[in-house]
Amino acid sequence: MDKAIRNDIYDQAVKWVLEAGTIIRDEMNAPLNIETKSNPNDLVTVLDKRIEAFFVQNIKEKYSNHFIIGEEGYGDSVTSLDGTIWIIDPIDGTMNFVHQRRNFAISVGVYQDGIGEIGIIYDVMSDMLYHAKKGEGAYKNNQQLPQLTSDVKLTNAIIGMNHFWLCENRLIDEKTMQNFVKKVRGTRTYGSAALEFAYTAEGIENGYLSIGLAPWDVAAGIVIVNEVGGVTSDIDGNEVNMLEKTSILTCNPILKDEIITFIRNGRK
Ligand code: IPD
Ligand code: CA
Ligand code: CA
Repeated sequence: MDKAIRNDIYDQAVKWVLEAGTIIRDEMNAPLNIETKSNPNDLVTVLDKRIEAFFVQNIKEKYSNHFIIGEEGYGDSVTSLDGTIWIIDPIDGTMNFVHQRRNFAISVGVYQDGIGEIGIIYDVMSDMLYHAKKGEGAYKNNQQLPQLTSDVKLTNAIIGMNHFWLCENRLIDEKTMQNFVKKVRGTRTYGSAALEFAYTAEGIENGYLSIGLAPWDVAAGIVIVNEVGGVTSDIDGNEVNMLEKTSILTCNPILKDEIITFIRNGRK
């Protein structure tokens, strides 16, 4: 992507993300009209919808030839990665938003012909903005994030993962994952995939594993993690397809092969 064009999109995207954060903070104590989607734990509120609609309206006005993939359905029906595509999760961590009013993020990725160019993850209540442009480093607010350490092993790693891995599941034998939990130094579950990516980029987690994530959960995070030398794939090590739901591993590159080998042993 041309740098001047990308800078313009990036400046605009950051402005909209911060505005969206202000809307959420201002309106989060009004009735949220909580509904459920695919299952009783899959929540959506009036603010998830309002924020996505806010992005879609602004993007369509300013960039009429761009496409949008959004969780709440205000975007386009995208079947190809050609062109400029905004991939948006208006509130990632809706369960945290509903129950805790914190630990959720706005996640915006911009891809050009399938390549991640811009990633923005905004921890709304902590006012922490993780952001990156491809090839230009990753930042937390104004501070550039260092490259991930080469001094890490699985036995002293902290890995983000959902507890579902430890229950019977369709992808991997739970005993294998119980052994994995025993092997690593510690595990964490923050309840927002976007924040787990941000923490992996920051190096405060050394990786994050998830059974099933959608493009809007990972699009921004992949760009940010890439910029500090991290890697992202599905749990078998294959490239992530930005048009499909998939399992996800994002981590320090030193850990990737060992984690994938570990998982392969229990793979169904
Ligand atoms: C969810 C969160 C959660 C992850 C789920 C996602 P949502 O996103 O990222 O941490 O485990 O798979 O669906 O629904 O809160 O936007
Ligand atoms: Ca999400
Ligand atoms: Ca969401």
